[in-house]
Amino acid sequence: MGETVKLTYQGKTYEFPVLEGSCGEKAFDISTLLSETGLITFDPGFLSTGSCESKITYLEGEKGELLYRGFPIEQLAEKSTFLETAYLLIYGNLPNKAEFEYFSHHITRHSMVHESIKKFYDGFPNNPHPMAVTSAVVGALATFYENQLNVRDEREIEITIHRLIAKMPTIAAYSYKKSKGQALPYPDNSLDYTSNFLKMMFGTPCEPYEVDPLAAKALDVLFIIHADHEQNCSTSTVRLVGSSMCNLYASISAGIYALWGPLHGGANQAVIEMLQEIHDGGGDTKKYIEKARDPEDPFRLMGFGHRVYKNFDPRSKIIKKLAHEVLNKFGTKEPLLEIALELEDIAINDEYFLQKKLYPNVDFYSGIIYKAMNFPITMFPVLFAIGRLPGWIAQWKELQEDKKFKIGRPRQIYIGEPQRDYIPLEERK
Ligand code: CMC
Repeated sequence: MGETVKLTYQGKTYEFPVLEGSCGEKAFDISTLLSETGLITFDPGFLSTGSCESKITYLEGEKGELLYRGFPIEQLAEKSTFLETAYLLIYGNLPNKAEFEYFSHHITRHSMVHESIKKFYDGFPNNPHPMAVTSAVVGALATFYENQLNVRDEREIEITIHRLIAKMPTIAAYSYKKSKGQALPYPDNSLDYTSNFLKMMFGTPCEPYEVDPLAAKALDVLFIIHADHEQNCSTSTVRLVGSSMCNLYASISAGIYALWGPLHGGANQAVIEMLQEIHDGGGDTKKYIEKARDPEDPFRLMGFGHRVYKNFDPRSKIIKKLAHEVLNKFGTKEPLLEIALELEDIAINDEYFLQKKLYPNVDFYSGIIYKAMNFPITMFPVLFAIGRLPGWIAQWKELQEDKKFKIGRPRQIYIGEPQRDYIPLEERK
C-alpha cells in the first residue's frame, strides 16, 4: 500500500489509502469507513468531500488555474470555438476534421423543435422567468423521444447529446420571444451555433438581421468559459439525478434549476440588479462595501467570492478584457460598468475582502457584457445554462461509464426527536 491515513477510534486503528490525482491533488479514500468503523463523515456543503474521480476539468484555486481536459481556459477562449470545446469536454480530445464535421453537422441538423413544443410556451403565465421555462421544456423533451432514453445505449446517448446541444438555443430564445409577444422563429442552419442563437433572439420576420461578428465572438467566448467547472452545485445535481440512471433530459433539466439560484448561475443577474440599485441610489459604492463588511448585515457583494478560487478567478480576467472590447465597439457608455470598476477597485484593496480572499468571479463582468448586447437581465442565467450544457453532459456521461458507478446517497446526522409515541388529537395539549 502507498501513502495512508490512520484513524484511531475507540482504541482501534484503521488505515485508509491516499489517492493522488494527475495534477497532485490528494484525498484519502473513506469508502469503507462505515463498514469498518460504523462511522460516517460529516461535511455540510461538501467543503472537504470529493464525490468522484473525473478526467474532465481541473481547477486549482490558489493559482487560479482552469483546465478543460488539460487545456488552459485562456488558450481555448482565444483559439477554440464553443462547439469544438463542447466536443472536447464530452469526448475527451480535440476533434480531428472529420470528427468535428460529423459533430457540428448533427448539432446543426437537430436545431428545430417539434411543433407541439411551441404550444408549451402558451401555457405559461405572461412573464415567466426564462430559467423556469427553459428547464421545463428541456425536461419535457424526454416525452418526445421516449423510446430513445436508454442510459446504457451508446447510440441513444449520442443522439440525445446532439439533440440537447442543438435545441438548447432554440428553446432558450423562444422563452425570450414569447415574453416579447413575438413570433417564434425557426433556426437558421446556415449560421454558426452562436450566431444562430443571436439571430433567433433578436431577429424578427419583418426585416433581415445581420449578426454582429464581435457580439457572436464575445458570446462564443463566454459560452466557452462557462462550459464546465468540475463538481459545482448544478453539475453535482446533474450527476446525482443521473446516478439513479435517470435520462439525460431530466438530469439536465434538474441542473438548470440548480443553476438558477443567486449563489450560483443566478449571480450574474444579481450582480446587475445590485449595480443598478447602487446606481439608482446615487452611486455610493463605499456604502455597499461597508454593508458587505458588516457581520450584522446579510448583504453580500454579488459577483465576489468563490468556493474554490481564493486568489483570482481566471475566467474573470478573460471576461474583463472582453467587457471593454464589447462596450468600445457598441459605443455604450455604460454607467453600471463604471460602478463595477469602482467597486472592484475598492474591494480588491479592502482589508476585509483581502483577508477573506474574495475576488471578482465570472459573474461580475458577464452581466455587463450581456447587458451591452441587449439581453434582458432574466436571460443572463439562461446564457450561463447554454454555456454549461456540454460540461453537464460530459459529467453525466462520465458517471454512466464509471466502473465504480453507484447511486448517490449521502447520509446524515439525525438531530430530531428520538422515538416517541403517537398521542390522539383529543389528548394533545
Ligand atoms: N460579500 C461579502 N462577504 C462575503 C462574500 C461576498 N460576496 N462572499 C463570502 N463572504 C464572506 C462570508 O460572509 C463569510 O464570512 P464569515 O467567515 O465572517 O462568516 C466568508 O466570506 C466565507 O463565505 P462562505 O459563504 O462561507 O464561502 P463559500 O465558499 O461557502 O461561498 C460563494 C462561496 C460564491 C457562495 C460566496 O462567496 C457568495 O455568496 N458570493 C456572492 C454570490 C456569487 O457571486 N456567486 C457566484 C459564484 S461564481 C459562479 C458560479 O460558479 O456559480
